[in-house]
Amino acid sequence: MSGHAGLFAIVGARVIDPANGIDGERTVLVRDGRIAGVESPGALPSFDGVRGERIERIDARGLWLLPGFVDLHAHLREPGEEHKETIATGAKAAVAGGYTTIVAIANTRPPIDNAALVRFVKKKGEEADLARVLPAATITLGQKGEGLTELVDLAEAGAVCFTDDGRPVANAGVMRRALEYSRLVGRPIVAHEEDLGLAGGSMHEGEVSVRLGLRGVPGAAEEVMIRRDLVLAELTGAHLHVMHVSTAGSVRAIREAKSRGVKVTAEATPHHLTLTDEAVKGYDTNAKMMPPLRPEADRRAIVEALQDGTLDAIATDHAPHATVDKELEFDKAASGIVGLETAFALTLRAVQRGELKLTRAIELLTSGPARAFQLDAGTLTVGAPADLTLIDPEARWKFDAKKSSSKSHNSPFDGWEFSGRVVRTFVGGRVRFEL
Ligand code: DOR
Repeated sequence: MSGHAGLFAIVGARVIDPANGIDGERTVLVRDGRIAGVESPGALPSFDGVRGERIERIDARGLWLLPGFVDLHAHLREPGEEHKETIATGAKAAVAGGYTTIVAIANTRPPIDNAALVRFVKKKGEEADLARVLPAATITLGQKGEGLTELVDLAEAGAVCFTDDGRPVANAGVMRRALEYSRLVGRPIVAHEEDLGLAGGSMHEGEVSVRLGLRGVPGAAEEVMIRRDLVLAELTGAHLHVMHVSTAGSVRAIREAKSRGVKVTAEATPHHLTLTDEAVKGYDTNAKMMPPLRPEADRRAIVEALQDGTLDAIATDHAPHATVDKELEFDKAASGIVGLETAFALTLRAVQRGELKLTRAIELLTSGPARAFQLDAGTLTVGAPADLTLIDPEARWKFDAKKSSSKSHNSPFDGWEFSGRVVRTFVGGRVRFEL
């Protein structure tokens, strides 16, 4: 793979950097893996003079140049389920999707509940040398919802957040203590919100589930837990991040809490802003995930909340599963879909449908998630790492799940046609994906 070391300039692109209010043609100068300048077109000759160096120019006319995308939520399955994904294959799918930083969620086998495992994930990510892989650690030992992990040690080892995702923390007392400790270490508690007493179904509980004869999960299963955790975030003053928000009721609760100053951030997935529970009609298990796809009114509420700032980020919930885990009766199949390589196209599709504004959509993939977890990423600020994504906004393409870089192919978007495609991804100024 070709790489660009030293000094180079990307010229002619439309640069969109929401964090710095930039949307227009600029020349972006990269030196030693960092952004060295974002200048008006034509400013390049003055750079040439600085040290008399020769600057390699990359012609990006007709393309968009964006900060590399940041995913707060990717299941990479290593250790333990390497037949579904490894950290290296997940990181490869990430750069193919324009992502330069991804948070590896901790529900592996075993779960990431000690410092040695956090270091293992970090090391594997560094060895893969593709997207930056940031480890998450669990909130509770063995993800059992009982004893807390050593949050301080885990943070020191490099965990950027704490989450039992895949499972909720059922006990409010445990969640309260987790929030208290997380405040001490300054990293968020990242919550999978599902009341197990209301859960147990395989799709959204409503008209479609009744018609299909499948047991449903009501939106209330998510909403009661979000409301509980907002109360606990307020009580403790800690930072709560709510994962994969899927209902209008959840959006209302988060909006209200934010307006009162509760320290909460939240994300939604590309699939919840695109599909509804109607997608389950053919019993396609690639439409099965937790939380489930919801009715149109919920989908619309998610899109509005992404646009108005109630939700801070689009996060993939990339959840690879093997064919044997998916080719089963609907209620027995594994939950989750791969998402790293379709997230940008689905987000842009929402822009093309007039549901999201372009700069807000880019923000939701870049500085929005970075700010939520206080990561040094998602902007083209001078001095920031040169993590960049080039987009061909006119390219028409069809997603072929079988050809994806991920080890798994469980996507409901297989065969979908999109316009707008990631063509090159730089991490630290080096090309890590090229179409
Ligand atoms: O659909 C899901 N899949 N939801 C989760 O919360 C976990 C994830 C997984 O790990 O497969």
